[in-house]
Amino acid sequence: MPEKTINGSTIHYIEAGQGKPVVLVHGFPLDGRIWAGQIKHLAERYRVIVPDLHGFGDSRAADPSSMQSMACDMHELCAQLNALPAAVGGLSMGGYVAMQWYRDYRADIAALMLLDTRAQADTLQGKAGRDQMVKLVEAQGAGAVADALMEKMLAPENFLANGEVARQLHQIMASQSVDAIRWSLVAMRDRLDSGALLASISCPTLLLFGQYDAITPPSTGEQLQSVIAGSQLQVIADAGHITTMEKPDEVAQTLRDFLEANY
Ligand code: MLT
Repeated sequence: MPEKTINGSTIHYIEAGQGKPVVLVHGFPLDGRIWAGQIKHLAERYRVIVPDLHGFGDSRAADPSSMQSMACDMHELCAQLNALPAAVGGLSMGGYVAMQWYRDYRADIAALMLLDTRAQADTLQGKAGRDQMVKLVEAQGAGAVADALMEKMLAPENFLANGEVARQLHQIMASQSVDAIRWSLVAMRDRLDSGALLASISCPTLLLFGQYDAITPPSTGEQLQSVIAGSQLQVIADAGHITTMEKPDEVAQTLRDFLEANY
């Protein structure tokens, strides 16, 4: 199982294919398994690297994280793997990490793919929600967080009708460690606003949003598109927040088309 010691913690990652590096960063409270439907397709042309962030999945950590430390982990991992510069994709919290990575190590990133994410920092209400969820995971564990998030993650049709995707998603969320969940909730609560960063993004950028995303709706993508020069917006029909699992083939093809044209 490939892993590297990064900043005193163990970061597990999957690697497949050869060619220019493509790094795919998962969201909250998830791990690299959310990209399972894209890895094979992209690995036909690229060297695909899919890490588990600090404490998530098969990565192991003993200390809290921050958005900056997770971005630093990604930089260090890719430096150790001789995989820089890279095209970087991030879904939701993975997008927050990707934006922080761009802010701190701009030369690392040759192309950006921001999926179902936003640039704004948490509102006061959002921060209070993070604190409540910290209490929930500490009191009742990851399963309770999975139960609480489940309905918002998928388009209604996929939540109700696509039982297998819903079952897998719940299983991924419920399998995360309490520490990884509470550390990343605090990291998201305290993350910097990336709004001012957007106008300075100069690499090719894809924005991908699910049509029925209840957390970051396509209007969020339109706002990003209006400020990131030359960015492209793709809306994935009949998908919610976890587009990579709900519409794996469409997302894989969209990422590949973007990469082949821009990277
Ligand atoms: C995610 O999917 O990573 C989360 O929705 C991000 C967030 O809670 O802000």
